Amino acid sequence: MSVLEPPMGLIAELTHRCPLQCPYCSNPLELERGGTELDTATWIRVLDEAAALGVLQMHFTGGEPTARKDLPELVRHASSRQMYTNIITSGMLLDERMMATLVEAGIDHIQISFQDIDPGNADRIAGLRGAHAKKLRLAALIKAAGLPLTLNFVVHRQNLENLPGMLALAEELGASRTEIAHVQYYGWGLKNRDALLPSRAQLEASTARVDAARERLKGRMVIDYVVPDYYARRPKACMGGWARRFINISPSGKAMPCHAAETLPGFTFPSVRDTSLAEIWRDAPAFQRFRGTDWMPEPCRSCDRRELDWGGCRCQAFAITGDAARTDPACSLSPDHALMDAVVQERSSEPPEFVYRRIGGAAPASVPAPQELLEPVP
Ligand code: SF4
Ligand code: FES
Repeated sequence: MSVLEPPMGLIAELTHRCPLQCPYCSNPLELERGGTELDTATWIRVLDEAAALGVLQMHFTGGEPTARKDLPELVRHASSRQMYTNIITSGMLLDERMMATLVEAGIDHIQISFQDIDPGNADRIAGLRGAHAKKLRLAALIKAAGLPLTLNFVVHRQNLENLPGMLALAEELGASRTEIAHVQYYGWGLKNRDALLPSRAQLEASTARVDAARERLKGRMVIDYVVPDYYARRPKACMGGWARRFINISPSGKAMPCHAAETLPGFTFPSVRDTSLAEIWRDAPAFQRFRGTDWMPEPCRSCDRRELDWGGCRCQAFAITGDAARTDPACSLSPDHALMDAVVQERSSEPPEFVYRRIGGAAPASVPAPQELLEPVP
């Protein structure tokens, strides 16, 4: 039996509260409310358990992680336990003062996500007027603080034509790394798939542009590129393999191998409130279910890529085939691959309205005015 390696990273979804309402948010459709969130003391204990288990990277995300007042305290604690600290933020609440506190607490890296470069379209996608301008201000603050700047552009059929401008903006802002990430179709992204999925021609044009930019910017800026599985021949190694590299913890403390695992029926996810991280990682049936290769059906079982992509994504296999234990249909060797093609064929010529992501159900399709979308924590 092979030795169980510790997880490399812990993804802490501190809260599902967020001022934005992106229609491709990776959070579940059933967002957890502020009142159910873990308290600071529990997170501090979890950070201690993570360090003891051998976790190297702490990714603080949400929702919007800066909506938690204790974020600097959590960063400071993770940092004191020698873990690399990363915040993934919309940038809406992170001002000069909070930046100074985070730097003093030892933050290593902050990643800002952008919706587009056209302010009108960016704000429409984010569901909040003025959002884009705030992100630009935060990028400048990150540079001024001497932190490496990573920009994340989530791309889809409603902003892909601005890809050259996205790369130019990243260059202008002095980003050391830029992610051009096509929407992944889980959670809200799956709900809005028809509004977001690009055509094959759009995808091919974007891939050519990224390739050219990589060549031009070699040595100056790293460009990561994530493509949509619907046009792939082989799947991605989702999360680096089920329960191999990461633990994801929801705001209320549910521990899962990935952010979308709650969509899978028949699973019970342990809570960090009452079970230690080490026990969860080692023993939880939900973590063991698709770990390694023993669970694999054919064609994965006898495929020479089985320890490279680990059979793809379990949540996608379930979303498309209704069975999480089948080969990811993104793989052209999967007997279900035609189902992916069918989705592409059925894509409508005009994108439908977005269903915006928000606590308490979908917002109307029109763009809301600036408003307080952060549900207060009781
Ligand atoms: Fe990966 Fe399975 Fe496809 Fe092989 S058959 S490439 S292991 S998904
Ligand atoms: Fe859950 Fe891929 S998102 S395994």
